[in-house]
Amino acid sequence: MNKARHIAIIMDGNGRWAELKGKKRAEGHEVGAKIVREITEFCSKNDDIESLTLYAFSTENWKRPRLEVEYLMKLLKKYLDSELENYLQHNIRFEAIGDIRAFSKSLQQTIKNVQEKTAHCDGLVQSLALNYGAQDEIIRAVNRIKNYENDITEAMLKNALDCKHDVDLIIRTGGDHRLSNFLLWQAAYAELFFTDTLWPDFTTNELEKIIKDFTKIERRFGGLK
Ligand code: FPP
Repeated sequence: MNKARHIAIIMDGNGRWAELKGKKRAEGHEVGAKIVREITEFCSKNDDIESLTLYAFSTENWKRPRLEVEYLMKLLKKYLDSELENYLQHNIRFEAIGDIRAFSKSLQQTIKNVQEKTAHCDGLVQSLALNYGAQDEIIRAVNRIKNYENDITEAMLKNALDCKHDVDLIIRTGGDHRLSNFLLWQAAYAELFFTDTLWPDFTTNELEKIIKDFTKIERRFGGLK
């Protein structure tokens, strides 16, 4: 039976969820943050799951209206500030992937602080993809290793990426069927699950069902049965 050791989620649908309820998009993001907490806690209690990587802010999200970007930045900071205790309580190590240099000094400081304070935790690794784009990640990785004298190998490039672990299962909520520049290298053999559920309505029950379906899939990694 497969184990979903590394699960990654494209959390889509906050805005539509809010609009359907006659609320502001910001409220969709706020409920979305609550779901992040619930799903992370659930994963931290499942011994098979080692890493949970969540697409929280993409390199393309800067194109949104300024007020929405500002709101998302504030929400992220608030989430991380309030989450530290919870991470420690559940032995969760927090890490950020993506180019966080684009964020305000104060948000960068918060991110670094939570990373440092949870560095000793050896339970679940929760990675938030922040100002993350897979193409940008690959370019930054190539630039890190381009001055080596020998040919670049797969292992060298992999090791230079922000996220060094292959992903087993990628889930996208919100009805679209695409990867949107998320973990393109790490998803080489990932199983992809798409659900119409909007992120604020996503539940641990639905995640449990997806994981159950995943465990039954025959994964061949290009080989034969
Ligand atoms: C997509 O909804 C969601 C995002 C912009 C990224 C995910 C953000 C959150 C879950 C909230 C904050 C997260 C943390 C970790 C504090 P959308 O606005 O694209 O929805 P739409 O497609 O319905 O417009």
